[in-house]
Amino acid sequence: MKILGIETSCDETASAIIECYGLKILSNVVHSQIELHKKWGGVYPTLAKREHSKNLLPVLIKALKEGFGGSKFKIQNFKLQTPKIIDAIAVTIGPGLEPCLWQGINFAKELAEKWQLPLIPVNHIEAHIISNFICQNSNCQVFSNPESDSKLFPAVALIVSGGHTQLILVEKIGQYKLLGETRDDAAGECFDKCARILGLSYPGGPAIAKLAQEWKLQSPISKLKIKLPRPMIYSKDYDFSFSGLKTAVLYDWQKRPDKIKKSKEYVIMMAKEIQQAIVEVLVAKTIQAAHEFKVKSIILGGGVAANKELRSQFKLKIESCKLKINFLVPPENLCTDNAAMVAATGCFYYEKFKTKSLKEVFAQGNLSLSEKEFI
Ligand code: KG4
Ligand code: ZN
Repeated sequence: MKILGIETSCDETASAIIECYGLKILSNVVHSQIELHKKWGGVYPTLAKREHSKNLLPVLIKALKEGFGGSKFKIQNFKLQTPKIIDAIAVTIGPGLEPCLWQGINFAKELAEKWQLPLIPVNHIEAHIISNFICQNSNCQVFSNPESDSKLFPAVALIVSGGHTQLILVEKIGQYKLLGETRDDAAGECFDKCARILGLSYPGGPAIAKLAQEWKLQSPISKLKIKLPRPMIYSKDYDFSFSGLKTAVLYDWQKRPDKIKKSKEYVIMMAKEIQQAIVEVLVAKTIQAAHEFKVKSIILGGGVAANKELRSQFKLKIESCKLKINFLVPPENLCTDNAAMVAATGCFYYEKFKTKSLKEVFAQGNLSLSEKEFI
């Protein structure tokens, strides 16, 4: 069974085709709007919506060509000439920016109608979890049945992106309990806002990570002494808060003389400390949940999961705590928003939606993972 996925929840227009048997990627096309949003230092929703409507068709055509080879089909007036090369369409319905979500949903509905295919609504957060089970090139983890594999579940999933920071207990695919989430800014949002204060480009996560790599213990600038808070690291719950961290960065930056704050050394030192503060909190809370719920796996997802330091500090902590658990993290291109994860999620819900009406599919900007009434 082959599923076409469509993703437009934020600033990526994406289309992908997944072969459900083995969750193999046949094609995975992402059109990022990063360049466009750079000057705003974040995603500008009206602009994002307009870009989605412009890019959905070319991105779809590219995904179909990549997946099936140019010769097998022709799209004219949305008529897919080779019948049944796709079995269903999966589309993100939330959480995300509603005007953007609607672009993808209306496009997917139109295709589903023209091609007479079922339409499967997908929760974006669940898709980030499922991105861990996708098989890309030779990078395939073999799961006997990822739906309920007893070696994998229960698991704790940390989904960290520009819009979300959530810790989720995964009993099995489709069964989730939200353990905690951010009370204000998401971890990625914190990276982005701190980068803006430091005059770095958007998105802030990769910019800060790159600078942080340049930091060395021996650097004479380490005399500068920057110590940022680790918000809520010792709180007994699984909630997060990152807006105070951003404020601490702003205060430190404001109090420094121009000569210091404009120096490369200061920015490097700050980047290192911002990254470390965020990573420490994320790792500590997730490990705490792993202990409490005696999980068999820790699963990461979302753009911030692409952070190398986060990945390596997780590995070290799991080893040092002698936790005998699996540590799953998708390849970088499947951490940030993509449609392969949407199509892969669709594979698990095909049966449920194969006969449902298209009317039941609508955007839900604040959709939560435990609200499973849409499924
Ligand atoms: O999942 P994603 O592509 O979109 C959302 O759903 O938000 O995540 C984007 C976020 C941005 O905030 C970006 O700064 C952050 O992920 N990000 C990173 C890295 N790559 C992307 N944060 C830290 N380190 C990275 N390497
Ligand atoms: Zn995302």
